[in-house]
Amino acid sequence: MRQIIFMLFTFGLFSCNQQTDNTKILQNRIDSLEIKLADTYKPGFGDFMSSIQAHHLKLWFAGKNENWKLADFEVHELMEAVEDIQKYQAGRKESEMIGIIIPPLDSISKAIKQRNSVLFESSYTLLTNTCNQCHSEVDFEFNVVKIPDSSPFSNQEFKPIN
Ligand code: HEC
Repeated sequence: MRQIIFMLFTFGLFSCNQQTDNTKILQNRIDSLEIKLADTYKPGFGDFMSSIQAHHLKLWFAGKNENWKLADFEVHELMEAVEDIQKYQAGRKESEMIGIIIPPLDSISKAIKQRNSVLFESSYTLLTNTCNQCHSEVDFEFNVVKIPDSSPFSNQEFKPIN
């Protein structure tokens, strides 16, 4: 009987040690993954804004040319950029305000669906004013965006193809 108890005890100790070893291995893995994760590249707020700047401009020329398919595409690119900022820049306090451009974007979407140039223009003006409203509220008031007057993208056709 004593022998059996002794054997069980030793076995118990052995499996305990085994478990501590496994926990250590797992902890090491978690640590190295955390280091890798912290080093992973993610676009900064300014990177997203530069992309928003390009889509804001392309949206204007698509809408002005009544290229509604392209305009719809550009609005969705802007929506995606908003979602990406909320996801990848959640730590920045400015990200809490990014949602203010959603109502003007919705209004532009409506104009595109209705193929309504007048509504498109007024919603686009509202969008641009809202961009600047946010810039001034987050102390980037020196960063003024405006309705573009010419496209630097000479390699892209904004007129509809048919
Ligand atoms: C959260 C509020 C907010 C909204 C809404 C917003 N921006 Fe910005 N924008 C910022 C911040 C913050 C920066 C500075 C980013 C940085 O730290 O680099 C910025 C920077 C910029 C820049 C400068 C990029 C550069 O490197 O020169 C442009 C252009 C810009 N935004 C365009 C726009 C446009 C166009 C819209 C609307 C469609 C818009 N922004 C809406 C907060 C906002």
